[in-house]
Formats: sequence, C-alpha cells, structure tokens
Amino acid sequence: MSHDRLNNLMARGTAFLGCQVALMGGAMSWVSERHLVAAISNAGAFGVLACGAMTPELLDNEIRETKARTERPFGVNLITMHPQLSELIDVCARHGVGCIVLAGGLPPGGAIERIKAAGAKLVCFAPALSLAKRLIRSKVDALVIEGMEAGGHIGPVSTSVLAQEILPVVAGDIPVFVAGGIGRGEAIAGFLEMGAAGVQLGTRFVCATESVAHPNFKRAFLRASARDAVASVQHDARLPVIPVRALKNKGTELFTAKQREVVEHLDGQRLEMAEAQLQIEHYWAGALRRAVIDGDVEHGSVMAGQSVGMVTKEEPVAAIVAELMDQAAAALERRAA
Ligand SMILES: Cc1cc2nc3c(=O)[nH]c(=O)nc-3n(C[C@H](O)[C@H](O)[C@H](O)COP(=O)(O)O)c2cc1C
Repeated sequence: MSHDRLNNLMARGTAFLGCQVALMGGAMSWVSERHLVAAISNAGAFGVLACGAMTPELLDNEIRETKARTERPFGVNLITMHPQLSELIDVCARHGVGCIVLAGGLPPGGAIERIKAAGAKLVCFAPALSLAKRLIRSKVDALVIEGMEAGGHIGPVSTSVLAQEILPVVAGDIPVFVAGGIGRGEAIAGFLEMGAAGVQLGTRFVCATESVAHPNFKRAFLRASARDAVASVQHDARLPVIPVRALKNKGTELFTAKQREVVEHLDGQRLEMAEAQLQIEHYWAGALRRAVIDGDVEHGSVMAGQSVGMVTKEEPVAAIVAELMDQAAAALERRAA
C-alpha cells in the first residue's frame, strides 16, 4: 500500500513538528510522562509532556529524563492557570524545548512573548472560530481544535462541527491539528483532506505498553465502550462544574450526591456561597492521580474520550501509530481509486 498521498497531506504538519508522522500524542496529566512521550516521539510521531501541576523543578527533571530516552523532538504542555507559568516557560527555554502547547484558556499577558523569546513554537487550543482568529492575530504558531468527544476537560462543541467551522477559514493561514474522538486512521485521512495539518490523540495511547498508567486504569479502558465515557453534569446554576469526560464510576455517582447535598445546605443557609463553590471545585482534586497512579478506578477520575471503545488491547506505541497510518493510507487509496 502506498503512503505517498498520506505523507503529502501530512507534510505541513510534519515540517511544523519536525517528525515523520503529523500526529501529536495529546498531553495527559500523569500519563504523558517520560516513558510514553519518548515512545511516541521514537515512533515517528510527536510526544507532548503533560506538566499539569508539576513544580518547575519536577518539570526540569521530567524533560531531562525524556531527553535521555529519545533524541527526537517532543513538546511540553503547560496549563495557563499554573501560578508559576513564567518559571515553567523558563525551564522549557533552558532545555531548548521547540514546542510549547498552552492549555486551559487564552494565554495570559506576557506568556506569548516569553515563549517566543525562548525560541519555542506556540500551540494553543481554539474552542471557536472567533477565538481561532484572535489567537492567529496574537501570533500563535499552530492551533489544536478539540471536540467534546475528547477525554479530560472539554468544551461544548463536537469535533466534526469545529472542523467544519474552523478548517475552511483558517487552515490556509496556520497549521491546525484536530483532536477529540479520533480512534482510527480513516478519520485522520478525512481531517487531513479537510485541510488539517495533523491530528492529536490521547485516549488511544493510554493502554500503550509504554504507558505507566496503573493496570486497573488500563483494564477499565479495555472494558469500556463509547457510552461509558460521559461528561460531568452540573446540577445547579449557582455551583459551576467544569465539564470533564471520564468513565462513569462510583466517584461520578458520589459527585452527583455531593452536589445535591451542597445545594441543600445552601438553600438551608447552612453554607456560604463561596464555601459551597469551593467544595464542588475541590471534589475532584487529586482524583486523576488516584486513578492513574494508585489504580483506584472506582473513586478516582478515569478521564477517557469516546474513542475508548476502540482501545481493544495493550500494544506498543509503534504498533498503534503504524496501524493508524496504514488505515489512513488505505482510506486515501480507496478514495482515489
Ligand atoms: C487521562 C487524560 C488526561 C488529560 N490531561 C490533559 C492535560 O493535562 N492537558 C491537556 O491539554 N489535555 C489533556 N487531556 C486531553 C488530551 O491532551 C487530548 O487532547 C485528548 O485526549 C484528545 O482526545 P481523545 O481522548 O478523544 O483522543 C487529557 C486527556 C485524557 C484522556
């Protein structure tokens, strides 16, 4: 089977990322650490380290350990709300990290300039066309558009709608990577044909042999189907809940009960609003670590995208990437015939 057409369609993305396959391994807190990230880059794709809540010292060490495992380029995902964002950018600069992915909202003042001064390319999430245009005006180097099928924190719009709204308008100006719900190569081929420079996948890599996720976490993925990966639900307008897609478990049930309890206390004036909101906000604190590292998949947060149903076995990253690329190439060949 010829991969020529696929390679042509990916050329812009691979040139941007400096790798062979225009596929970013979406950063996943606790999962995307040195082993998985190095394995993704070694497979010819582009690994992205998840900084999450790490301190600058921990990030420094993680980048060093990743570099010890791959000579290929990889990126670092930083969360905009991190109180030490500037210091984290400086750590990336010291290591010569070529690509920083900023997640968690629009970049705060000064962050773009600091990243540019560090010589790194900046990738941001664009949750709507208007924001994509604004980010392009702010001189970001590439965009990720991530639909609500994705695992982790999500927006309200599906990948297929975001792709149709955003790709035809901005893909000529800036490389755009499509994420959320991608489990097979046929979908990758489709988004590339629509003008995407590449794609970003998270859920498909959780059960990679090289992933350090706890065996219980991997087992939960292997058992789950698309309908088990549900978005968290807000029960009262006064108590905001940030939507997160995860496998439903005892923890999600208890979260519903917790919201009801807090609402009752609020209504009975036994709780101040600020304290009530804090209790909801803090409910999931540490919950992803509890599931990924400790293996408590009943009470922890088993963040997963709807493509979880297409995760059927534990296999090396290289096999996952090769299968996706073969599927994409075959799909393009069929369409050309
Ligand atoms: C367990 C898990 C943790 C995640 N953590 C992060 C994170 O820390 N930062 C981030 O930008 N995205 C995070 N994501 C989103 C991924 O980077 C990626 O965009 C998403 O998984 C793509 O959609 P998919 O899961 O349908 O492949 C996470 C996703 C999962 C499944």
